[in-house]
Amino acid sequence: MDAPRFRIAAIPADGVGREVVAAGRAVLDAVELSAAGRFALAWEEFPWGSDYYAEHGAMMPEDGLTTLQGFDAIYFGAVGWPTVPDHVSLWGLRLRVCQNFDQWANIRPVNFLPGVTSPLRKADDTDLDWVVVRENSEGEYAGIGGRNLAARGRGGEVAVQSALFTEVGCERIMRLAFDLARTRARKKVSSVTKSNAQQYGMVLWDETFQRVAADYPDVETESVLVDAMSAKFVLHPEDLSVVVASNLHADILSDLGSALAGSLGLAASANLNPERRFPSMFEPVHGSAPDIAGRGVCNPIGAIGSAAMMLDHLGLHDEAKTVNRAIEATTAQGVKTRDVGGTADTAEVTEAIIANLGA
Ligand SMILES: NC(=O)c1ccc[n+]([C@@H]2O[C@H](COP(=O)([O-])OP(=O)(O)OC[C@H]3O[C@@H](n4cnc5c(N)ncnc54)[C@H](O)[C@@H]3O)[C@@H](O)[C@H]2O)c1
Repeated sequence: MDAPRFRIAAIPADGVGREVVAAGRAVLDAVELSAAGRFALAWEEFPWGSDYYAEHGAMMPEDGLTTLQGFDAIYFGAVGWPTVPDHVSLWGLRLRVCQNFDQWANIRPVNFLPGVTSPLRKADDTDLDWVVVRENSEGEYAGIGGRNLAARGRGGEVAVQSALFTEVGCERIMRLAFDLARTRARKKVSSVTKSNAQQYGMVLWDETFQRVAADYPDVETESVLVDAMSAKFVLHPEDLSVVVASNLHADILSDLGSALAGSLGLAASANLNPERRFPSMFEPVHGSAPDIAGRGVCNPIGAIGSAAMMLDHLGLHDEAKTVNRAIEATTAQGVKTRDVGGTADTAEVTEAIIANLGA
């Protein structure tokens, strides 16, 4: 049988996105080399992002989605640069891909790595390991609303931004969260809500959660208001396993989670189209970090962890484990970037991870 060959579209986009995608590709090249022909990755890189916008007036070409459709996966950096309004860059590229390719599940593990000091004291003596499961297709990021009445003059404009919650959308992300919980040591799903204040969408969310939970009697559940959940991340992190939340809530909570693990630069993520009708997209949680971009000092671990999630998605489970073990071995050796208290630069951390692939 021929070795599988996977077509990967790389979209580094802006700022540190370019640096971390290069780092992730270097690690994947090394993994592919050591696989000695058991699989192949065929890369194509696309120069879409804020520079492309400056030249073409759009973040990606009109037929960009058609181009991407033929790939097995997308490896993404980060989008956003001070020259383009953030809502234009985000909607023009990342959200355009996520929404049109129905990547409705955003999986964001929070990994507490050896050798990385967490600001959480409990992380010193408690094993912490969570996954934030983010509804990625609707909710507060449905893009429904508008602005009007600017003609009334300064101070008179109004804006409406609506959140969309469908029973289908809630149910599919919750089932994915429960199925994931069943594969973990702690079989528990925590649902995040704000139904005390948002009496329509979030009450539908809660009722769907209760209905879905009834099909998983072996999985422990809880439903927690988002404000209380923020406190719980800090005060009782040992009580969490899988956390399922709406688009906005999970976006915020996963940044909190990765900061508690040590840095935003550590956090990996996968935007999945679980039915595999469209390519899924793998990217670090962080943005383009204009404050440190271009200096070679950003943390590549979030992007390299996302590359491991991509390998897993492609069925290369052993290779994914190898990359994750190499990340752990590297931080345990103290080879770390500045955001996690080290002195190494992006290239040194990447080289150490490659050297540890055989560890
Ligand atoms: N998925 C995405 O593409 C995405 C996500 C978030 C923000 N953004 C965009 O990124 C731009 C900057 O946004 P922001 O500053 O709010 O968020 P950011 O994630 O870019 O940066 C927040 C902080 O984390 C630090 N940081 C981020 N990545 C790091 C890394 N790999 N290593 C070390 N430190 C790192 C930055 O230096 C900064 O201090 C904006 O244009 C925003 O819209 C894009």
